[in-house]
Amino acid sequence: MAKQDDNLLKKIISHAKEYGFIFPSSEIYDGLAATYDYGQNGVELKNNLKQYWWKFMVQMHENIVGIDAAIFMHPTTWKASGHVDAFNDPMIDNKDSKKRYRADVLIEEHVAKIEAKIKKEVTKAAKRFGEDFDEAQFLATNPRVLDNQKKIEAINERLKKGMESDLDDLKLLIEELGIACPVSGSKNWTDVRQFNLMFSTELGSLADGASTIYLRPETAQGIFVNFLNVQKTGRMKIPFGIAQIGKAFRNEIIARQFIFRMREFEQMEMQFFVKPGEELEWYESWKQKRIQWHKALGLGEENYRFHDHLNLAHYANAACDIEFDFPMGFKELEGIHSRTDFDLKAHEEHSGKKLQFFDHQENKSYVPYVIETSIGLDRLFLAVLSASYTEETLEDGSERTVLKIPAALAPTKVAVLPLLKKDGLPEKAREVIDGLKLDHTCQYDEKDAIGRRYRRQDAVGTPYCVTVDHQSLEDGTVTLRHRDTAEQERISIEALNDKIVQLVSFKTLLAAQ
Ligand code: GAP
Repeated sequence: MAKQDDNLLKKIISHAKEYGFIFPSSEIYDGLAATYDYGQNGVELKNNLKQYWWKFMVQMHENIVGIDAAIFMHPTTWKASGHVDAFNDPMIDNKDSKKRYRADVLIEEHVAKIEAKIKKEVTKAAKRFGEDFDEAQFLATNPRVLDNQKKIEAINERLKKGMESDLDDLKLLIEELGIACPVSGSKNWTDVRQFNLMFSTELGSLADGASTIYLRPETAQGIFVNFLNVQKTGRMKIPFGIAQIGKAFRNEIIARQFIFRMREFEQMEMQFFVKPGEELEWYESWKQKRIQWHKALGLGEENYRFHDHLNLAHYANAACDIEFDFPMGFKELEGIHSRTDFDLKAHEEHSGKKLQFFDHQENKSYVPYVIETSIGLDRLFLAVLSASYTEETLEDGSERTVLKIPAALAPTKVAVLPLLKKDGLPEKAREVIDGLKLDHTCQYDEKDAIGRRYRRQDAVGTPYCVTVDHQSLEDGTVTLRHRDTAEQERISIEALNDKIVQLVSFKTLLAAQ
């Protein structure tokens, strides 16, 4: 069951700001909508998430290599990919509030309300019938539920048709359903119009005859146009993959829910090129690999589910999302698509260059089919943050807010804390840090009582705190405190680094995959 906890999202947003994870962009000028800056802790967590993805996708697959393509691409790229003509959202304005909405989202939210009514009926009936309750039978026979399900089907049918070819009917549907503007409560709507999500800019000076280019709305096209470069120079044989991490830009009509929907964001995408006819097998295989990769993070297996697409885009022959139970409920975290040979063929047509693979075994050339895995780095960041955020009372009765981030991903791996600011303890603590900092991100903190220092490290998710005390000077040992249990153990300084290397290694996350 989705959490739907607005309060949790608010707490996460304020925690992320207070502890240097995420700031509103250009905040001194009151910020810029749906644009965020990652702070000193945020950038470390983000870099670690990239590493976790890159190590799994590239390092652990000998037939996958990475690239880093430019954000600007020849404008014909976006004509070929279909983004110039079809990367649109249907928008509608409320004439009274002057607020802009996505027409399909207004309708989907209305459908969600009807679904909530069905859920309520089920909960009520389950209470009434107790152990004898048969949910499947209830859903199949209850007249009110059946009536609501019929309504949902009819709305979805019209939504699908409207999105494909009839924007006037989308407006009609909004009016018929009595959907009101959430801000003004008014039902005074403009017509529905298509709105292209790509940001454009000018390349060159006007005197030179500037041309319009786009900020890429996905990283994938940088991979497609480099398919032959990589295949030839890397002597890659089908099946093989090309992976990339980079920024993407979309002029989202409604950009909200913190870093879930941004106008500038980062994607981690991989295109896997396969022999035509084998794509659905590879699609299944990548679905399984990717869900396992997510679950290995230990954020709770119940937080993930697949959402298979029933209405496929014209270029896909299978597609699904991996959804995560965010504070706003289950929402898309990653997309996995079997994109056929659509993109490579389109680039062949528009560029006039062949983008084919010569298969020596078959003694013929063909345009490979493609399985794509595409995950939003910022959404992954939000998933980790929301699943890690914990408010708890410790055994000694004290309260703490702790980020239980998987140790390998934590911004700071070890904090070294001299018990007192005197008696040679700070100097000893610096020595300990010197022995750790080649392998780990470390922090030194000598301010305030030790309990407060632990709380500060808990709040940024530091998995290990090392305390240097008087005994350390005598016998060369320190205490090692474990974030999640708050348990402490005594360990020799000599053995400390090896132990922490083991505890924070990506190996623990990757070994089982
Ligand atoms: N190349 C395929 C592609 O771009 P997509 O479903 O549009 O597919 C892939 O995007 C992923 O990128 C999504 O699953 C999501 O995690 C992330 N994403 C898309 N739009 C985003 C936005 N406005 N803000 C943050 N992440 C976004």
